[in-house]
Amino acid sequence: MATSSAPGKIILFGEHAVVYNRPALAVPVIQVHVDVEVLDSPRAGIWIDAPDVNLHTEVGTLPSNHPIASVINKFAPLSSPHLQTTKMGGQRGVEIKITSTIPVASGLGSGAAVSVALIRALSSFLLRPLSDEQVNHLAYEIEKIHHGTPSGIDNTVITYAKPVYFIKNPPSSDNRDTGGKVETIKVGIPFTIAICDTGIPALTKESVGDVRKLWRMNQVHCESIFDEIGQIAFMGRRAIERGKPEMLGELMDQNHAFLQKLTVSSPELDKLVDAARKAGALGAKMSGGGRGGNMIALVTPDLAETVTRSMQEAGARNVIITKVE
Ligand code: MEV
Repeated sequence: MATSSAPGKIILFGEHAVVYNRPALAVPVIQVHVDVEVLDSPRAGIWIDAPDVNLHTEVGTLPSNHPIASVINKFAPLSSPHLQTTKMGGQRGVEIKITSTIPVASGLGSGAAVSVALIRALSSFLLRPLSDEQVNHLAYEIEKIHHGTPSGIDNTVITYAKPVYFIKNPPSSDNRDTGGKVETIKVGIPFTIAICDTGIPALTKESVGDVRKLWRMNQVHCESIFDEIGQIAFMGRRAIERGKPEMLGELMDQNHAFLQKLTVSSPELDKLVDAARKAGALGAKMSGGGRGGNMIALVTPDLAETVTRSMQEAGARNVIITKVE
């Protein structure tokens, strides 16, 4: 048997602009996670049991571009007869159990977390451990199936499970899609974030596609917004590393305003952002793809409860308090 677990994530600064090569900052959220267990099975075939998405099937019944099937198909030895007789001691199949506390389509990276945990569990089951870099690379390939043109930040922060500063393709590189440049960052002084779910599922692929349409219509305008957001992410990194988390609130507010201009916020997200600020949050913004999903608020520990209550009154479905350290 092999097991693996992967956390959720939030984007602190830079979503959407990161698709256009500006830097972004993301942190893992350990309060939500995906757990994967891979074990020998007396049944022939590769069986998936993922109750959270109501998936109980043999992998061959899934379309080959199904994200879970795509991960499994990357591990060709799984279906080789050689493996089935030697590795599995005469037994004939494999059972893969996937459980998750990360809500789907909420901006917390559920898809990337499934990929990362599944890749690690399968490689360990096959006694072929992969480096973080290899896991990240494979997970990025799967993200492309989920999202079309992902930056790679979701799989990266989830693979490394540390705060990361990420650039998709840094300016010095040629135009190859390298999967991005990642720098893990040290948090000078820990700070507290309230993550608040609108309860509205939203597909990142759609909001990313809409930003692409907007960009095609007005590249100069969009590029200048991306520049501003990139600068915010850069300053956010500096504030975190220098142990000045109080500076992050203002940056979050500014970042949210630019995301509104990119049309990826929503009335529900805006309402929660306002409620958090009115209740004393130091700053607030939507996080991830937008339109639904999650927003985040910077809170002092003593204000976390008041801000949470205010966001619940404004329609929050769920609030997670997480410490970034
Ligand atoms: C999604 O978590 C972040 C986006 O910037 C998309 C991406 O980076 O792939 C919206």
